[in-house]
Amino acid sequence: MSKPLTPELVEPLLRGRFGRPYLWSEGCASTQDALRGSALAEGAVAVTEHQTAGRGRDGRRWEDAPGLGLLLSVLLRPPSGSPVQQLSLVAGLAVAETVEDARDLAAVKWPNDVLLGGHKVAGILLESSGVEVVCGIGVNVLQTEAELPANARLPAASLLTATGHAPDRAELLVSLLETLEHRYDSWRRRGLTSFLDELEARNALRGRRVEVGGEAGTAGRIAPDGRLTLLRADGTTVLVASGEVQEGGRG
Ligand code: BTN
Repeated sequence: MSKPLTPELVEPLLRGRFGRPYLWSEGCASTQDALRGSALAEGAVAVTEHQTAGRGRDGRRWEDAPGLGLLLSVLLRPPSGSPVQQLSLVAGLAVAETVEDARDLAAVKWPNDVLLGGHKVAGILLESSGVEVVCGIGVNVLQTEAELPANARLPAASLLTATGHAPDRAELLVSLLETLEHRYDSWRRRGLTSFLDELEARNALRGRRVEVGGEAGTAGRIAPDGRLTLLRADGTTVLVASGEVQEGGRG
């Protein structure tokens, strides 16, 4: 286990608005619950070393190994009426940029996973009510193979197993918060269009045969509104807004 991400360690390293206030605990049910319905300012962050009921998408659980990953939730208050489902791509891009090293571009698997070397290293969970969005991010950082979830839907990796390097969790956390803040601010100003090309460069599904949202086809570009383009077998295209992606190989 690396040093706990206590306020004493992390707060002096913070470089922007995100992470203020910084709520840390040694353990909790889910960091999502520490922020939901709170009156805290946008950018408030909850971090823990271990979750007893970590949530993933579609009712799944997010399993962690205490002290070896990043488990955080960020409170966002986007303008009312904004397309908040796009925030999983905004956060996905920020995570990808933070975790990748010079050798390996991290991929964003629409709509909410981040892959290194084809393995899932991070997942994003958005929970919203009214104008509040709690953006939960789980990153596998220092787990060995044996410490990663064995029966996950996608093969899992940690930054350690994927790159052979053991990053400093505190540095990783503050750099993720800074990148997320920067990408979120651009999204608020101009939507996804300002970084669509960067997202597309990391689009893990492009060219893959997939089934999603009741549609089957070959995945194409991520559209400016965040939907995934699918090319159907009959040559027509359809845009898919959400859903669990089943992969069926290269299209
Ligand atoms: C997924 O891949 O399905 C999303 C996983 C999201 C996990 C993070 S860990 C911190 C935050 N708290 C939770 O309970 N879930 C998110």
